[in-house]
Amino acid sequence: MNESDVKLERTEPKRSRLFSRRRMLACLAATAAAVYTDMRFIEPNWIGVGRHRVPILPAGSNPVRIVQLSDLHASSEVPLDFIEYAINLGLQQKPDIICLTGDFITHSWDEWDAYSKIMQQLSAAAPTFASTGNHDGCKWIARYGGYARPTKVVDMLEKANIRVLMNEREQVAIPNKASFELIGLGDIWADDFKPQLLGETKQDDMPRVLLSHNPDTKDLIENANWDLMLSGHTHGGQLTLPWGSTPFAPVRDKRFVRGLHPWKNHWLHITKGVGSLRKMRLNCFPEISVVELVAVS
Ligand SMILES: [Fe+2]
Repeated sequence: MNESDVKLERTEPKRSRLFSRRRMLACLAATAAAVYTDMRFIEPNWIGVGRHRVPILPAGSNPVRIVQLSDLHASSEVPLDFIEYAINLGLQQKPDIICLTGDFITHSWDEWDAYSKIMQQLSAAAPTFASTGNHDGCKWIARYGGYARPTKVVDMLEKANIRVLMNEREQVAIPNKASFELIGLGDIWADDFKPQLLGETKQDDMPRVLLSHNPDTKDLIENANWDLMLSGHTHGGQLTLPWGSTPFAPVRDKRFVRGLHPWKNHWLHITKGVGSLRKMRLNCFPEISVVELVAVS
């Protein structure tokens, strides 16, 4: 073995380690770039349809199709044309009624007439009902530049012929289908929650469906008489870690962040919502939801 062979033996492992480290860093950088691109530019714009069936109608009833849209979050990050796309996707599902469960804006908003005009497409197609969320106006969102009350949002919805249920009740009767009672509850973060209606006897023992922005509301009305609660607020967790946890979901009870769940003697449905905050979603595509009420078997 001559001198040059010895040098080669000493330097080769260092080159190999350096190459591996560079390759690993390049892989990490490429993965981070791919995740960021997906999170920021792909997922927030790729809306799907979530479908569920809830057996709460009397035996022999025809199914009632509810289309639920929530957390539209109109803002510089969620423009009206994206919201209009979601509305059209909802209308393609041929709803019997449409339910909107709050957070129509993120902070402040200026284009009220344009917003009302696109929302009118919903009420023109089917009876449309709404409840409000914590971003629509309350002391909490006023601390972050929002409105102190949801007056502007309610005005926009009413101009669009949408019935806003603020701790109010409506009887929904769809021709040739079962009737049910719909109660819209004020939001718990907004201190607008008044559950007194839930203490009253259900009319003709009809199924009772609640619109309540925040699914944590359930714990305050656990023993009341209701069948299904339609909620949003969580955005499905918005960022879902690879092992499935949703640490950023703004709820106390992180078991119920998205989807349909039986709970006690009730049902909960939490939609992932249309918009998002800071236009970021990971493993959590936005959605409109089709919740079909069907007869108990
Ligand atoms: Fe929201």
